[in-house]
Amino acid sequence: MATLDLNSISKSFGTAKVLHNIDLAIKDKEFVVFVGPSGCGKSTLLRIIAGLEEATSGQIVIDGIDVSADHPVDRGISMVFQSYALYPHLSVYENIAFPLRVQKMPKAEMDDRVQKAAGILQLTDKLSLKPGQLSGGQRQRVAIGRSIVRNPKIFLFDEPLSNLDAALRGDMRVELSQLHRDLDATMVYVTHDQVEAITMADRIVVLNGGVVEQFGTPMELYHHPATKFVATFIGQPNMNLVPAKVTAASATNITVEFTTGVTMTLPVDGSTASVGEQVDVGIRPENVSLDGTDGLPFVINVLERLGGTSICYGYTGDASQKFCATLPGDVKVEEAQEIRLTINPADCHVFGADGKVLRRLKAPAI
Ligand SMILES: Nc1ncnc2c1ncn2[C@@H]1O[C@H](COP(=O)(O)OP(=O)(O)OP(=O)(O)O)[C@@H](O)[C@H]1O
Ligand SMILES: [Mg+2]
Repeated sequence: MATLDLNSISKSFGTAKVLHNIDLAIKDKEFVVFVGPSGCGKSTLLRIIAGLEEATSGQIVIDGIDVSADHPVDRGISMVFQSYALYPHLSVYENIAFPLRVQKMPKAEMDDRVQKAAGILQLTDKLSLKPGQLSGGQRQRVAIGRSIVRNPKIFLFDEPLSNLDAALRGDMRVELSQLHRDLDATMVYVTHDQVEAITMADRIVVLNGGVVEQFGTPMELYHHPATKFVATFIGQPNMNLVPAKVTAASATNITVEFTTGVTMTLPVDGSTASVGEQVDVGIRPENVSLDGTDGLPFVINVLERLGGTSICYGYTGDASQKFCATLPGDVKVEEAQEIRLTINPADCHVFGADGKVLRRLKAPAI
């Protein structure tokens, strides 16, 4: 059992404030991913949870107890870093056993824990090897083993897969999700890779400039992004943002006009929009089709056929208004062709000038 509450955590380095009043309530056994661009404060927040860095203000609460003043080793937390930080002269066994030796744990119990961790991580036949004889993925597993043997209440991971090649990252992603199920532990995982975030997380914290933009399940973030930033950060290829002007607004709908003259009526809370207001209409590349003839005009510049899908990069309106469309693999289109994209109004997201989404009255089904 390990809940983790962050209460109004702020952090400044000198005059630079890098974390702003972060409030998060992480549930027992939850896999939470912190995601965001480089420098947004992910590692700093993780280090504050671990006790490796002191918050300027706010509390870290584990299982209802304020541990903000506790030493890292007393917090029941274990952290795995991007660099494996293994001892090259020690065997895999000794690397995993290291924290237990420091604790002077009796040999039988230590051996039991190391063997168990090695079993979970499929390292049993590697225990006598040195780290130099292992692949990158195996080395990262040794580092994870070293954290498992301590039986922490909470595991923290700071970009543990970023040193691995793409194929290995994919494999390790699945292994870590499996590990989370096997250990039934609370885990906080930092990455700047939105695919890792979406595939592994129970809930995702999107950080931007030291502020939480949104905290929700992957599908909440995908279907109901609260801000333009979240909308374009989650989902691949990125969501398109097309500028438009509000030409009519009611309690349940707004009508917008794109620069191409095409208009659409969208189901959002019109009471918060005013006629003449400039908005951005968010359209995911996968939410378009070629079913109609009077949709959004789209000129294809580059066509990438991936087999199952065709990704079309081009523009709508003038050439500066870039647009991307994901169409079926065998779609009969070609580069330089102008086509019309049909878009379901219920799939559109509308963002005001402040970057926040205009509230939807009726959310699409998840
Ligand atoms: N010890 C420090 N002294 C001064 N500034 C720091 C220190 N550590 C971090 N920062 C600053 O705090 C901000 C957040 O850094 P942090 O390492 O948390 O980012 P991050 O989201 O983990 O980025 P990345 O994805 O590149 O690892 C950055 O602007 C960084 O320059
Ligand atoms: Mg970092």
